[in-house]
Order: sequence, then C-alpha cells, then structure tokens
Amino acid sequence: MSVIGKLGRFSRVVSNGRPHHRVISSLSSLPETHQMLYKTCRDFAEGELKPVAARLDKEQAYPHVQLQKMGSLGLMGINVPEAYGGPGLDSLAFSIAVEEISRGCASTGVIMSIHNSLYMAMIDKFGRDDQKKTFLSPFTTGETVGCFALSEPDAGSDAAALSTTAKPDGDEWVLNGTKAWVTNSREASAAVIIASTDVAKKHKGISAFIVPLPTKGLSIGKNEDKMGIRATSTCNLVLEDCRIPKNNILGQEGDGFKYAMSALDGARIGISSQALGIAQASLDCAIDYAAKRTAFGKPIIKFQMVQEKLADMALRIESARLLVWRAAALKDQGQSFTKESSMGKIAAAEAATFVSHQCIQILGGMGYVSSMPAERHYRDARITEIYGGVTDIQKLVIAAHLAREYGVGGNNH
Ligand code: CAA
Repeated sequence: MSVIGKLGRFSRVVSNGRPHHRVISSLSSLPETHQMLYKTCRDFAEGELKPVAARLDKEQAYPHVQLQKMGSLGLMGINVPEAYGGPGLDSLAFSIAVEEISRGCASTGVIMSIHNSLYMAMIDKFGRDDQKKTFLSPFTTGETVGCFALSEPDAGSDAAALSTTAKPDGDEWVLNGTKAWVTNSREASAAVIIASTDVAKKHKGISAFIVPLPTKGLSIGKNEDKMGIRATSTCNLVLEDCRIPKNNILGQEGDGFKYAMSALDGARIGISSQALGIAQASLDCAIDYAAKRTAFGKPIIKFQMVQEKLADMALRIESARLLVWRAAALKDQGQSFTKESSMGKIAAAEAATFVSHQCIQILGGMGYVSSMPAERHYRDARITEIYGGVTDIQKLVIAAHLAREYGVGGNNH
C-alpha cells in the first residue's frame, strides 16, 4: 500500500469517518493526517520536482517519471475510494497536495490537479461500477492520466453554448465537433467529453461521455505553445464520426452540464491550490534572495520597502489559503461550496500574479533571467486567472449566489 494509502486508513481512524470540524487556520491546526501528507508532498517536491522544474519548462518535457512516483505515493487518485485503488482522502488533502506539488513544479501540479479533480472526479461521482473498474482504478497508478473536454473554440466562458454533438446509432454514440484547451490531452488514455445529445434543449440536452484514447475518429491537435505551464500538453480534440459504445455515457443523458459544473466547483479548488503553490514558491525565492543580496552596505531584507513587499506577499497568500481551505472543508462536510470555491479561486490566482510580480521586483535583473525561477513563476501564475473559469466568471457565480442568498434572483440571465 502507498504511503498515502496508509494515510487514508489513518485518516478514517483518527476522524472516525467524520470530516474535520475544527477551525482550520494554519498548518499546525490541521488534522495529523494532513500534516503528514503535507510533509510527504513537500519532501517529494523539494527532492524530485524543484531540481528539474526549470528543465521541464525549457524543454516542454512531460514529467512522466515524476508522475509515476506520485502514483506510487497515492497522489494520482487521491480522492478515489480504496475499493477502486485510491487512498480515499478528502478535498482538503487534495488542496494541500496540489499546493505542495505546484510549489515544486506548477506544470506537474496542474497535471495532477486536472486528472484528479475533473477526469477522476467525474467518473467517481457519476460513473457506474463497471466504468469505475475500467476508467478509474487503472488511472490511480500514475502510469497514465485522464483529461476533461468541455471548452470549444467558440464556447469557453459560455460553456452551455457548446456545439459538439453525440447522436445515437444502434449500439453506439457518434460524436462530432472540436473541443479546445484540453489539459493532458496528448498523454491521456481516456477523456471525459461533454457533448450535446439534444441541441434544442440547450444545457438540459448536454451529456457526458467517457472516450478511451486512442479511438478511431478522434484526433489530437498540435500542442499549444504556451506562456507558462510549459511541461503540460494543451491541445484540441477533433471528433469526426467518432464512435463509442452506448454504455460509455456517464450518468444520465441530459445531466452532463450540471455534472460538469459541479466538477468544476472542485476543480477550482485545485487551480486555486496550484496558484497558492506558485505564490508560495515566489515568496520563498524572494525571501531567500533578499536575505543574501546586499546593497548600500546591508542585506536588502533590512530595507523597509522590501519588507513592505514581503509582508504584502505573505498577507495575500495566507488570506487566499484560508478561503481555499474553507471551500475544501465545506466540500468535505457535504455542504454547498460553489461560491466559496469561486472566491478562493479569485483570491489565490490574484495572489499568484501579484506575488510572482513582486518577487521579480525584489530580484531586479536576476528576476528577469531564467537562471532564477522567478520568471517561470511569473509565467506559470498568469494562467490561474484564466483556466478553470476566468475571474469574471467567478464573479458572476459569486453574484448569482449572493442574489439567491438575498432572495433577489439567482441566475445569470
Ligand atoms: N453545480 C451544479 N449545477 C449547476 C452549477 C453547479 N456549480 N452551476 C449551475 N448549475 C446548473 C443550474 O442549477 C442550472 O440548472 P437548471 O436548469 O436545472 O436550473 C443549470 O446548471 C444552468 O445554470 P446557469 O443558468 O447558471 O448556467 P449558465 O449557462 O448561465 O452558465 C456559468 C453558468 C457559471 C457562466 C458557466 O457556464 C461556467 O462556469 N462557465 C465557465 C466555464 C469554465 O469554467 N470552463 C473551464 C473549462 S475546464 C478547464 O479549464 C480545465 C482545464 O483543462 C484547465
């Protein structure tokens, strides 16, 4: 059993199966399991990711070896129940693990995050037992990953406007259309694809499907040449009369949009946690440099203008982390966490772009060259305000919830 598999068992013993109820305000206030998980991920990131992150970024090299090791630690199916090969840890554990992995390498962090929070979560939550045996268990090892395809070239923020179709034909579904911005698409062995089974019904006619890869009729487009997270693949999936068995539908026909939206709530905790990891790595880098670099006869950390920057950076990170952990704790308690997840995402993503910016400012010219990690953190941070739903969409979600809470409406139309 993996280290984290053991932690999963330990977690259920110490918590007696109940989610954490105590106030989570700092690492030391976390349950012992989560502190052990933090240390495991921290050590792995320091030893196995930090030393190679710059090379992976430069060569746009997918971290196969590192992901396999993460699989043996239990990180590649972190929320999957033991019956299907995972340690069955909770969302707070997922958040802590993604943050620490991303602190070592933001690309590896998002590969793990999307795989767990979108591909695995969709199948775990909405799949049948036979689907879980085929498409969940073998994906917990780190040997391979899954991907999730919702966005399209003409439907990003307006996800319900998707135009990919799935039509029944005998014992099969026939899929046609183009999905865009699919993280992990080059390396994935299966995809959860969201498509319309009844265009006239708009979002109520959208369904989710599991498509094994490779499959005839599905081709993978070129790797996008991205500003950051360059060790990940992001491609289009082109579906041309792509046939899959009838029973590869996930859950109920017509419920796919709601499934995707609810999975995205969890995925936003993952992206927020990745952002926290990038921000924390930037703060680590800035403090280390400021303590060593001297100017005007003393280390620059002694200057109040540098101290002010460092204090602002830490404040943004720690306040964002509280919001992200609150969303994760609510999810673990089975409560609504949509609004809180969106709040955490805005705070963490904006913390990542702010903190990585300030880190470069403290390093000066050394922040602008690739011999130091600051410029990579800055490039990696930017996407966290975009994918998983841009900041503007998170604000729509928050406002819709506020309107409902105040009894003055609720949808976005
Ligand atoms: N959970 C469950 N159901 C939900 C939901 C949620 N969080 N949010 C909405 N729904 C349901 C609603 O209850 C409603 O159901 P009914 O028709 O039964 O009432 C239905 O979905 C439609 O709701 P809305 O009218 O609010 O939907 P909308 O069309 O106005 O869209 C939106 C809402 C929030 C803008 C949504 O389109 C959205 O989140 N857009 C952003 C998409 C996004 O985040 N994309 C990221 C792509 S994945 C990615 O980036 C991963 C990667 O690879 C990095």
